[in-house]
Amino acid sequence: MDDFLTGLPEATVLRDPSDLEPFLRDESHVRGVLPLAVVKPRGPSALRELVRRAKAEGFGLVPRGAGTGKAGGCVPTARTVVVDLSQWPGDIAVSAQDLSLSAPASAPLRDVKAAAEAQGLFYPPDPNSWESCALGGTLATNAGGPNACKYGMTRHWVLAVDALLEDGEIHRFGISSVKANAGPSLGQLLIGSEGVFGLIVGATLRLTPLPREHATLLLPVRRWEDLLDLPGRLCAAGYQPSAFEFFDPAVLAELRAHGPEEARRLPGEALAILEFDERGCTAESFLEGLLDLLGPMAESLELASDERQRKAIWAVRRMTSAFLKERHPGKVSEDIVVPRSRLRAFFEGLGRLGAPCVTYGHLGDGNLHVNLLAADKTDPALLERQLNGLFRLALDLGGTLSGEHGIGLAKREAFLTLSDPAHIRALRAVKRALDPCGIFNPGKVI
Ligand code: MLT
Ligand code: ZN
Repeated sequence: MDDFLTGLPEATVLRDPSDLEPFLRDESHVRGVLPLAVVKPRGPSALRELVRRAKAEGFGLVPRGAGTGKAGGCVPTARTVVVDLSQWPGDIAVSAQDLSLSAPASAPLRDVKAAAEAQGLFYPPDPNSWESCALGGTLATNAGGPNACKYGMTRHWVLAVDALLEDGEIHRFGISSVKANAGPSLGQLLIGSEGVFGLIVGATLRLTPLPREHATLLLPVRRWEDLLDLPGRLCAAGYQPSAFEFFDPAVLAELRAHGPEEARRLPGEALAILEFDERGCTAESFLEGLLDLLGPMAESLELASDERQRKAIWAVRRMTSAFLKERHPGKVSEDIVVPRSRLRAFFEGLGRLGAPCVTYGHLGDGNLHVNLLAADKTDPALLERQLNGLFRLALDLGGTLSGEHGIGLAKREAFLTLSDPAHIRALRAVKRALDPCGIFNPGKVI
């Protein structure tokens, strides 16, 4: 196999097993197998050659950004080469006139957001890993985050995609305008496809004016179930939070007992973080209206008084996943979704399932991180039953088994088993049409 990677143009090739080891994992519980190599392409000729050699030699190409995925989408399967896009060239360019930003897949999402902000513009997608992930990974996985509650997912902010297809060439799908309706969108098909149809190497993103005001609220509650109707009540009353996060009593208790200093003073039996970012959201009249709506729940409401306090609140929320992982290294973290109107029914069903779990996450859009903390100590057959029960519950309530992390390897079996067979047949037909030799991220998603 070594022969088939020697002389690859415009690329760094890693083959030493000790260099390959770090690529076996992402941030999920899934572990891959040792890849044949890791290739870091620096230009189109590397990709052209890789595609040619992959077809000739029958190996697969597994795309990888910064490795912060949560579903094993970028971990290598058998007979694959990891295509690490961290050296893919290109600059971040903002067009204030087009309200757009172009960037290569290798651009850190943090830099993309900062480049927009420097011009008074906003790129809303904010997955938890936003300070360490690469733009390409967020496109391949259609990343979400707290702001999805108001602004939607990554796919809602993509105007055009540059992608490597099975002919070995890079093609552009989309234009720098929100209005583009010439036939079905192949670009949108690629977003969230986790690299099974082709590899995304860059994109043009949509921007919006940067919000100038934030009202960030800590809402501790005595009876945590009281929170469950609040997302729906807020929407029905015309409020649209830019984020609505929550910790259930168990997660909050862990944070308070073992978390960082800022977490130790967190009040309540359970806690929500609400943020608004529209013009006027810090005005007294806005907050008074909100207090009216919250009624007795607002008893212990705290408003972040400055940017420092706001950042401190978000720091605790942002470290929750890593904190739980450190304390429970064998945990499995899920990310089901139910419509916000079904949150109460979901938690009632979760109670009936009886699986030992704790939950936090994006209550405002019904995307919940149900964590089975002792997954590694649970009999695998029982764990599978618990997870399937969780997925079925979400599906029965009109939800889905992944809100933002994707399918990858972690949820592939469940996705194939629980989806409408017509859905899987159609996806596989698209896969055969776009990737007839099966070189793109084999064994993932479908
Ligand atoms: C989060 O919102 O904290 C992450 O998406 C959840 C996770 O890391 O499992
Ligand atoms: Zn999340």
